[in-house]
Amino acid sequence: MTMTYKNSNQQAPLDAQCAPSHRLLLQKADAGIRQAQPAVADTHRLHYHLMPQANWMNDPNGLVYYRGYYHVFYQHHPYSPNWGPMHWGHARTKDFLTWEHLPIALAPSENYDLDGCFSGSAVVEGDLLHLFYTGHRVIDGQLIQVQCRATSSDGIHFIKDRRNPLITSFPSDGSPDFRDPKVWQHQESWFMVLGSGKNGRGNVLLYKSKDLIQWDYVGVLAQSDGTQGTIWECPDLFPLSDRHVLLVSPMGVENRRVMYFVGDMDYEAGKFSPQHVGTLDYGPDFYAAQTFSGTKRRLMLAWMDAWECHIPSKKDNWAGALTLPRELLLDESGKLKTQPLPELKGLRRRGVPAPTSVLGEKDQSLPLTDPQAACLEMNLVVSLTSTTASHFSLCFSYAESSEQIVVGYNKVTGELYLDTSEVHAGQPGLYNAPIYPQGQSLDLRIFLDRSSIEVFAHEGAATITARIYPRSHTTVPILSALDGQIEVTSLACWNLAK
Ligand code: FRU
Repeated sequence: MTMTYKNSNQQAPLDAQCAPSHRLLLQKADAGIRQAQPAVADTHRLHYHLMPQANWMNDPNGLVYYRGYYHVFYQHHPYSPNWGPMHWGHARTKDFLTWEHLPIALAPSENYDLDGCFSGSAVVEGDLLHLFYTGHRVIDGQLIQVQCRATSSDGIHFIKDRRNPLITSFPSDGSPDFRDPKVWQHQESWFMVLGSGKNGRGNVLLYKSKDLIQWDYVGVLAQSDGTQGTIWECPDLFPLSDRHVLLVSPMGVENRRVMYFVGDMDYEAGKFSPQHVGTLDYGPDFYAAQTFSGTKRRLMLAWMDAWECHIPSKKDNWAGALTLPRELLLDESGKLKTQPLPELKGLRRRGVPAPTSVLGEKDQSLPLTDPQAACLEMNLVVSLTSTTASHFSLCFSYAESSEQIVVGYNKVTGELYLDTSEVHAGQPGLYNAPIYPQGQSLDLRIFLDRSSIEVFAHEGAATITARIYPRSHTTVPILSALDGQIEVTSLACWNLAK
């Protein structure tokens, strides 16, 4: 087979060097997806989120801007809708509105990664795109996790480095759970953080390199205070405004919510000093968040599911999706805000007429619209100073069933909430997110897709993400006030494009 490459002064295409065993396994995995696709049922397929073409997806990996595209890789099992030996699926987009699926990038093929190519990241060095990932083995019940690299010159075909594994064992500060390399450049050096833990405390281990090949251990960058998880997975460290932010996904805690720490990074000492800790998203289906490399804005995606939750779409031959792309920002008080990308306005299609200024009667519900396709964006701004109601809520009631989802605000406690207990959901329940300080008004942006809901409140000061699996595809939004009146400053609703 001949292949043409745009850049003709390149040396032998890296793909030509791809080990035959890896290439065959990639072809087999792509064929697995092609075979599975016809059996994927449409019922819960999302309209505007990235999801696998078929079978299993978990963490976003290798988020990077390279040659005009945002590349997104992800943990993927191409042979079943359940987790299995991890491959890296691959898609790219120019605008976050339309996605192009690409051939699977990595398959477990070598002695050091035979049980899975686990999560990791990507960086651009000159013309090349490098993926860093964890080679995963379980031998005689023993976990062996090592750090590896694969490189591409076209952003599509990757060859595993001959020198793999580049980091062969965990340092004494860590444990066999030693994974998920996130790599970045600072001044002349490259840095890598890895998730691990020791003596019941999750930690992040820091490595340094001059050439992206030889990695030297620096030390423990940050660790749990004893209540924040036993193993930290998927660490990410990056500058934001004049601070640094660390993200980690914890194991060994009841609610495995992604934590963020805002603080300062001392590169000389290899230490991060956290000053503020918070929850990145208060929903049940948000994990393994990662930010992009190579972009000016700090853009983030997360896996929009969770370990050990109910995923009804498995019977439809697919499972897992990623969140909407979100931008991270720091507010004046140094807390993290998460906002949907402005580009997503490009999804808006038909605007739904909605009253612009409504004063609700005591305990009165105001039906807003006719039944809508359950793929919509709704923006609500309420003046809190003129609102006397103790609670107000937007209820999405599904047609032809008794199912509903409620997004609300409790003015007394200052909490945003999402109630999915009356709908078929991944993890049905009532989820609260504190919003403080309470401002003079409250803005809610709600993105509903076939099987997901993402709520952004108070300019992204709090977010809640959940998977839902309603039986119907149309919904009637109803605005209600409890114990008083609500003054709506503005209300807008759009159907969103597929
Ligand atoms: C996080 C995680 C990672 C690991 C991957 C395996 O969800 O457990 O730590 O690399 O998933 O699929």
